[in-house]
Amino acid sequence: MKTIFLAVFICLFQNSSCFLPPKFQWKVIDFTWANQSRKAAIDSGLYVAENNMPTGLARRREKVFVTIPRWKRGVPSSLNYIYVNGSQQQPLNPYPSWADAVLSDKDGGISSNSTVVSTFRVHADRCDRLWVVDNGVTDMSMDVKQVADPAIVIFDLNTDKLLHRYIMGHDVLRESSVLTSIVVDIGKNCSDAFAYIPDMGSNAIIVYSLRTNEAWRVDHHYFHFDPHAGTYKVGGVHFYWSDGVSSVALSQTRKDGYRDLYFHPTSSTKQFKMSTKLLKNKNVPSEDIFNGVAVVGDRGANSQATACDFDHQSKILFYTQLCKNGVGCWNTEKLFTAENNPVIISDCNLLEFPNDVKVDQEGNIWILSNRQSRFLYESMDFDQVNFRILTAPVSAVVQGTPCERTTVFGKALSFVKRNKSGSKQSLTN
Ligand SMILES: *[C@@H]1O[C@H](CO)[C@@H](O)[C@H](O)[C@H]1NC(C)=O
Ligand SMILES: *[C@@H]1O[C@H](CO)[C@@H](O)[C@H](O)[C@H]1NC(C)=O
Ligand SMILES: *[C@@H]1O[C@H](CO)[C@@H](O)[C@H](O)[C@H]1NC(C)=O
Ligand SMILES: *[C@@H]1O[C@H](CO)[C@@H](O)[C@H](O)[C@H]1NC(C)=O
Ligand SMILES: *[C@@H]1O[C@H](CO)[C@@H](O)[C@H](O)[C@H]1NC(C)=O
Repeated sequence: MKTIFLAVFICLFQNSSCFLPPKFQWKVIDFTWANQSRKAAIDSGLYVAENNMPTGLARRREKVFVTIPRWKRGVPSSLNYIYVNGSQQQPLNPYPSWADAVLSDKDGGISSNSTVVSTFRVHADRCDRLWVVDNGVTDMSMDVKQVADPAIVIFDLNTDKLLHRYIMGHDVLRESSVLTSIVVDIGKNCSDAFAYIPDMGSNAIIVYSLRTNEAWRVDHHYFHFDPHAGTYKVGGVHFYWSDGVSSVALSQTRKDGYRDLYFHPTSSTKQFKMSTKLLKNKNVPSEDIFNGVAVVGDRGANSQATACDFDHQSKILFYTQLCKNGVGCWNTEKLFTAENNPVIISDCNLLEFPNDVKVDQEGNIWILSNRQSRFLYESMDFDQVNFRILTAPVSAVVQGTPCERTTVFGKALSFVKRNKSGSKQSLTN
């Protein structure tokens, strides 16, 4: 009884502290039906409202990109955006346009090279480009169809024009490939860029060089799932996943000129890293790669994560916490211990199945939750809110937690604060 009371109290306290209310939320996803008639789209099967579940987001200036994989039939557009200043339940706008977003009515493939067939997550880089990894498949959950080659699709966010579509070759992919996210490493200038793409389905990281326009595959046994961390319970649904490496994030540049790539398999509680020195050179001996991956540490029981992102300002790594309905963090300047990996926000309703987390260039954290376990394994109640996007300044969400930076001054300040806020603070610690 006491524990339940305490849990409820912590939940209430955390709710009131920083995030609420959700910036955007939907019972069901709808679109701006500019030219097409909504009714015609429903009648033709182009749009099946209840089959649209968003899985990823990225904020850039006035837009928040929202991705919807073509998991089931009736997803009219996989890559979309909404306006930061728009209403809480606003309909989604296909990106870059309706004409590009829909599949070709001739052959069911891409309508143009700007078409994104199915993507989980995207990355907005500091050179005003949007990087999308397109799996090229439809009907993933039923009768999967490869309607286009998997590709990296890059847009110029200033003009909303396609910069490049890179078709991934069979040499880097496998039958079981599932490309779940993408992160971009920019060097001296914007053309000196590498993308790192985890292949969750075949346990690899695919590296793409923009300058040379080629991709290669990196394998490692740490990219595989941990059989001891494959069971989940989210939203009252029990399930078992054997998902490999699914999410990666880049540190700041180190003294040697390279970054660390932080990564984790979904079904794992461990955090790993490797230097981009091993990734950027496609001729690195496999022995060097074998020896070059480090275990950073273990986050503890039930700490499986889907997505992660690194905040270059605060040097904090944020990651979703599936079984804890929340988001955790680690300040990379501190030791990787369980205490230094707190869950900073958790809510069994608002954050049921947190599926993406991003930090934008203005220092705000963005979180998307989508009740995915109900969508895939049970059924959704479309009279309830199912999909939410929450946001808050990073500084506000880490305040008073072990992720906050500790300068000498900060230490003194947090001591004063801690003493002031008294019992509340001791509850959350
Ligand atoms: C929201 O932002 C868009 C793009 O910057 C602008 O065109 C629109 O007028 C704004 N809407 C409101 C309600 O402020
Ligand atoms: C939508 O309609 C506008 C004006 O009616 C037209 O200029 C535009 O090309 C149409 N777009 C598509 C994708 O059909
Ligand atoms: C995509 O671009 C290639 C190369 O420029 C071109 O051959 C192809 O027809 C384009 N595909 C579509 C669907 O526009
Ligand atoms: C970017 O940097 C590379 C390597 O230093 C150089 O070769 C290239 O010319 C630069 N590109 C631009 C557009 O400045
Ligand atoms: C907290 O502040 C009070 C004064 O407000 C002081 O008496 C007390 O010693 C402080 N507590 C600790 C643990 O330092």
